[in-house]
Amino acid sequence: MAEKKMWGGRFAEGTAASMEAYSESVSFDWQLYAEDIRGSQAHARVLAQQGFLTDDEAKQICDGLDTVKAEIEAGDFQWKTEHEDVHMNIESRLTEIIGAVGGKLHTARSRNDQVALDFRLHVSARLDAWQEALASLIETYVARAEEHVETLLPGCTHFQPAQPVSLAHHLLAYAQMFKRDHERVTDCLKRVRVMPLGAAALAGTTHPVNPQAVADELGMEAIFANSMDAVSDRDFVLEAVFAGSLVMTHLSRMCEEIIVWANPNFGYVKLPDQYSTGSSIMPQKKNPDSCEIMRGKTGRVVGSLMGLLVLVKGLPMTYNRDMQEDKEPFFDADKTVVSSLGIMTGLLEQIEFVPEKMLSTVTRGFLNATELADYLAAKGIPFRDAHHITGAAVAFAEGKGVGLEDLTLDEMKTFSSEIEDDVFTILDYKVSVERRTSPGGTGPASVAKQITDLKAWLS
Ligand code: ARG
Repeated sequence: MAEKKMWGGRFAEGTAASMEAYSESVSFDWQLYAEDIRGSQAHARVLAQQGFLTDDEAKQICDGLDTVKAEIEAGDFQWKTEHEDVHMNIESRLTEIIGAVGGKLHTARSRNDQVALDFRLHVSARLDAWQEALASLIETYVARAEEHVETLLPGCTHFQPAQPVSLAHHLLAYAQMFKRDHERVTDCLKRVRVMPLGAAALAGTTHPVNPQAVADELGMEAIFANSMDAVSDRDFVLEAVFAGSLVMTHLSRMCEEIIVWANPNFGYVKLPDQYSTGSSIMPQKKNPDSCEIMRGKTGRVVGSLMGLLVLVKGLPMTYNRDMQEDKEPFFDADKTVVSSLGIMTGLLEQIEFVPEKMLSTVTRGFLNATELADYLAAKGIPFRDAHHITGAAVAFAEGKGVGLEDLTLDEMKTFSSEIEDDVFTILDYKVSVERRTSPGGTGPASVAKQITDLKAWLS
């Protein structure tokens, strides 16, 4: 017969083996062991400060927990599904080691506030790692942008060539996305770092707890206001996985562009060997698998977010065992977000941009048509008419198989007598970028300011 459960006082029969396998969480929540132990040690110390445990009892508990931790880290710990979860596995081993005093640790506490604390500590530490990875990626965007302030790229809308931009400006657009992701995580952390311990099962406790003291010891920023909310709130993990989903969505957009740019019909980039793969049958191929996998993994993280939203939807107050299903989606999202950020940073450091290829498409698609229309508008022609005149000039040049800048002044004048020799300056693609001096535009001064501001933000 199986050992009596820690909660087994009122039970005559043991759990069915199938039920034990179905309900256990230790196979995945063992990953919270360090947070569980930290939280328990803080709890024990505060119980002693409150006069509930003697200093000696608290010391025995804390030392015992250190021993348990050392066993886990040495790989000597026997995780048992009959103890259900990380909390009861650790507590039962503690009691084996230090005896009956171990049983005092769970005073003024329930697994409901305990698991909320452990998970909050875990998410908090992992979000720190996300922010570090985001900062490295942003730094890499800035570094690559600095190399390409002068490189011209066809800026697109509708994925159709629209106006020339600098490659730096394009890369810095991504840096802004990831900066917002970083800020979103900072904001989320305010709600992650809330101390739930002291809520007990749901209603608070009759014992003289001091949640603020535990919060101070564990570096939490606030304490719960309502014990029922404290044990049933999972917003913090939903928000974290949403932030992760948006990180992945941004990465996936970049992946899509790299995949297109690496296609020889574009040829804007050469993929680094370290982040590409070959084909087992077609010897000429170099595939952007890193980007394809990342685009695919985006669906996985978004799926975790959907799973969590549906998990919480419809749960009555307060703790429900459904909530045990909140860990794996986060663990999976965490692994995916951090590894993807690392891969993208490595790829971006090494990717080779091909400015000649970019320029050859800049000069092929009438990307200076807006310049001509603006030029005519500046001469007093209503913009709608200027647009029309330019359209006719584009159709003419297209028929000749040349760019607007290749037409003669006489040809130009057939479309509008306002056109003078100075038109050829503004039709120059480089000039078109340089003249976009509006705040946040692609002009060099704006790009330089973006770089300076991002560097200041990073430091
Ligand atoms: N393993 C549980 C979880 O992850 C711990 C809390 C269990 N609480 C309870 N009252 N059964 O949610």
